[in-house]
Amino acid sequence: DNEAVIGGKSFTAVAVNCASKAGEWIKSRIGQVAEPDLKISLHDLVTEVDKGSERLIRNLIGTHFPEHSFLGEEGVEPGPEASVKALQKVSAEEYLWIVDPIDGTTNYVHGFPFFTVSIALAHRGKVIVGVVYDPSRDELFVAERGKGAYVHGRRMKVSAETTLDRSLVGSGFPAEHQVALPRNLKQIQTMAPQVRNIRTAGSAALQMAYVAAGRLSGFWEIGLNSWDLAAGSLLVEEAGGTVTDQSGDPYHLGVRNVAASNGHIHADFLKELAKA
Ligand code: IPD
Ligand code: CA
Ligand code: CA
Ligand code: CA
Repeated sequence: DNEAVIGGKSFTAVAVNCASKAGEWIKSRIGQVAEPDLKISLHDLVTEVDKGSERLIRNLIGTHFPEHSFLGEEGVEPGPEASVKALQKVSAEEYLWIVDPIDGTTNYVHGFPFFTVSIALAHRGKVIVGVVYDPSRDELFVAERGKGAYVHGRRMKVSAETTLDRSLVGSGFPAEHQVALPRNLKQIQTMAPQVRNIRTAGSAALQMAYVAAGRLSGFWEIGLNSWDLAAGSLLVEEAGGTVTDQSGDPYHLGVRNVAASNGHIHADFLKELAKA
């Protein structure tokens, strides 16, 4: 339809093409990466492959849609203040591509095969296309607003659990160790006895995709950025789930403390998070 296609080029097709090209390339470079550079600390890494993947995606999008804006993690100064400012500058643009060229760089550096490429397109601040690609398992998660979420062409649906004690939930240890990590650790302590178990896969985008696919009933983390969440938020919503910030406000690009779930457990999930 008109929203998704400009001049015969589908936004989704371009997003998918970028994610698979970048994913294949980063997978081919695994194990051959030079020492990572440190961003703000030993917990926050970046490699030549992160930068190369972002360049590849940016160039490809630029050839199809030169008039669109672009926000990629590696084009922004490290640290939460710079990330928030960079988003504010562009969040109202007509078309904005939001890209995490490798989500899960720590895993990538250690050869732990859980990392993704995350690409979203927002129209005046609302995500309309979301693609997350996991090259290790060759799983491509795609959502278009109003048209559902798919993994390799199969429609995704969130899981059916209605209680925390039957739920497998995901979280993550934030790279930002000052404020975010202590709070997330407290939440893990409160949440663990309430749920069936907790997983931390090391890629926020992958865990959002897993909520959409019904493999996790929920996911939360503190201090994430727009590029970690934008694509995954649409996957979850289009699979019938709920994405809010941890005070329960609906997802928007500025959400950093996220709670995503199958919807059924959302109120209980938020209640537990608020206790920490
Ligand atoms: C990180 C991953 C990780 C999460 C961190 C993020 P990056 O992104 O999503 O799972 O725990 O908070 O920064 O830096 O690997 O793109
Ligand atoms: Ca990073
Ligand atoms: Ca990330
Ligand atoms: Ca990244």
